Amino acid sequence: MTPVLQARGLVKRYGHVTAINGSDFDLMAGEVLAVIGDNGAGKTSLIKALTGAVQPDEGEILLDGEPVRFRDPLEARRHGIETVYQDLAVAASLDIATNMFLGRELRRPGLLGSVFRLLDKKRMREESARHMEALKIGLPSLAVPVESLSGGQRQGVAVARAVAWASRVVVMDEPTAALGVKESGQVLDMIRRVRDRGLPVVLISHNMPHVFEIADRIHIQRLGKRVAVVKPGDFSMAEVVAVMTGAIQISEGKAVVADQDAAEAVGLS
Ligand SMILES: Nc1ncnc2c1ncn2[C@@H]1O[C@H](COP(=O)(O)OP(=O)(O)OP(=O)(O)O)[C@@H](O)[C@H]1O
Ligand SMILES: [Mg+2]
Repeated sequence: MTPVLQARGLVKRYGHVTAINGSDFDLMAGEVLAVIGDNGAGKTSLIKALTGAVQPDEGEILLDGEPVRFRDPLEARRHGIETVYQDLAVAASLDIATNMFLGRELRRPGLLGSVFRLLDKKRMREESARHMEALKIGLPSLAVPVESLSGGQRQGVAVARAVAWASRVVVMDEPTAALGVKESGQVLDMIRRVRDRGLPVVLISHNMPHVFEIADRIHIQRLGKRVAVVKPGDFSMAEVVAVMTGAIQISEGKAVVADQDAAEAVGLS
């Protein structure tokens, strides 16, 4: 099976810092792929390189097996890849419906739209309401500015926008980081609904219970590289975290101690 989105040997340097150091990546059709790793392991840099937000210095990206090079996130979006970035990209002073249609505004019919560029706010609100309803996101009026929403509701808008427009891939960088238990549960439900529609989801998260609850496979990033891909059923949470920190390695499908002291410290030697 050809991965939907794939990377080989990606490198991204910021000055003297090598954020991604020859990383591979494979996202298969219809799966939820969790990407985990310590702070600074290169998770955000990896998905930014995959979605056109930064340009990789080396390596190859393939969409449906075809090499691609996205100059910016807009180009990735045109290929059906929607991303919720960790540093949230919602426009606080604009209302929810306008945020949903950011970069894809609907104009009024006829001359009002084509010449005077007037926005069709009514239709944008109606369609936004439909998306929110389909995803079961509870929000106050769609006419209120996003800055009047709670952090969790804002995240809901960013996630809903990505899910509404994606046709190939949805990428979410820490979508539940700012959320309470109830809102996190809603985002996880949303991710399930997206997978049920047949769209694969890349979920970056530090929340191991969430990862184990929802991921089909787990990509483990360490020091800028993919060091393992595991299935949640095959390893314990403690083992996966130990791979993340370098205490153990996965070798031929088995957990092997890599750093005796570190493994002993987490009770895994
Ligand atoms: N714009 C930037 N300029 C300079 N260095 C950067 C930049 N973005 C990331 N880095 C560095 O690259 C490395 C990887 O960062 P990245 O944000 O990809 O990690 P991460 O795995 O997403 O971490 P976190 O879990 O904290 O979100 C870090 O050392 C970071 O300081
Ligand atoms: Mg990050």
